[in-house]
Amino acid sequence: MARLDVTETFHHISFPGHIHTQDSLNYARHFKFQDRDTVIATYPKSGTTWMQEIVTLVKNRGDPQLSKTVPNWARAPWLEQYYSAKVLGATQGPRIITTHLPYNLLASALQGSKAKVIYVTRNPKDVVVSYYHFHKMAKFLPEPNSFDEFLDSFLEGSVSYGSWFDHVKGWTRQAEVLANVLYISYEEMWLDLRGSMEKISTFLQCPLVGEELTSSMRHCSFSSMRDNAMVNYTLVPQEIMDHSKGKFMRKGKIGDWRNTFTEDQICLFDTVYSYQMQDCPQTFLWEC
Ligand code: A3P
Repeated sequence: MARLDVTETFHHISFPGHIHTQDSLNYARHFKFQDRDTVIATYPKSGTTWMQEIVTLVKNRGDPQLSKTVPNWARAPWLEQYYSAKVLGATQGPRIITTHLPYNLLASALQGSKAKVIYVTRNPKDVVVSYYHFHKMAKFLPEPNSFDEFLDSFLEGSVSYGSWFDHVKGWTRQAEVLANVLYISYEEMWLDLRGSMEKISTFLQCPLVGEELTSSMRHCSFSSMRDNAMVNYTLVPQEIMDHSKGKFMRKGKIGDWRNTFTEDQICLFDTVYSYQMQDCPQTFLWEC
């Protein structure tokens, strides 16, 4: 099967071209956020779909009806995708908006907004392994050769959506700038889903109690999401995601990078990580 492999460049960052255009990227950059919006911001493969499911469940007080009937990209659309103007323009009431854009591209649009922003981070070693496997199935991304080559591109920041380091540093420095921001990690959610859901639901001003919380936890578990066609991307046609090459809901683990990285790759990664993150004041769970 031929790959689509079209790349769009915007502000020196490459984006998968069949789902982004200059118009859609400009639309995102100048977007009018509303105070009631919830914005899920992530670098790809950091737990975006998981957070979309959690926020949907929280806003519906644990009722899975919406999660089971409407695809995640329709109920929490990506701001930068070509269809978002149409979907978001037609949405009434509080919106859930997803974005992988770096903070600097959204800075002026978010300035002064009271929209609630949730930024999810994940151990970049797990991110790069997940991203590598995703490139094998996603026909709109360049075919990765070896993991070694992909790792080099990731560390250089020449993959779609650019440098993980710049993305994480850009977003996590905004605690004092953004009116309402919650920083949470994939690892925190994985290790303590109940505590994380309480934290997220309190932040969204819909604190979950009792059965609402239990039901939400059940429906956003990895096994439940893996079997839910509204979030496991099996609705996406084969020519866009080749499901014979892998599953979107692949492993859903923390620390699984150990099964992929060689000693040399760990050494290279750690060297680049220490250099790039020396000016990042935040401490992350995976560093402890
Ligand atoms: P793996 O490829 O490591 O399995 P994103 O949604 O940002 O693209 O991230 C996808 C990653 O999140 C995949 O990681 C996927 O399996 C994982 N994921 C999705 N839902 C999850 C859940 N409920 N629990 C744990 N991991 C989940």
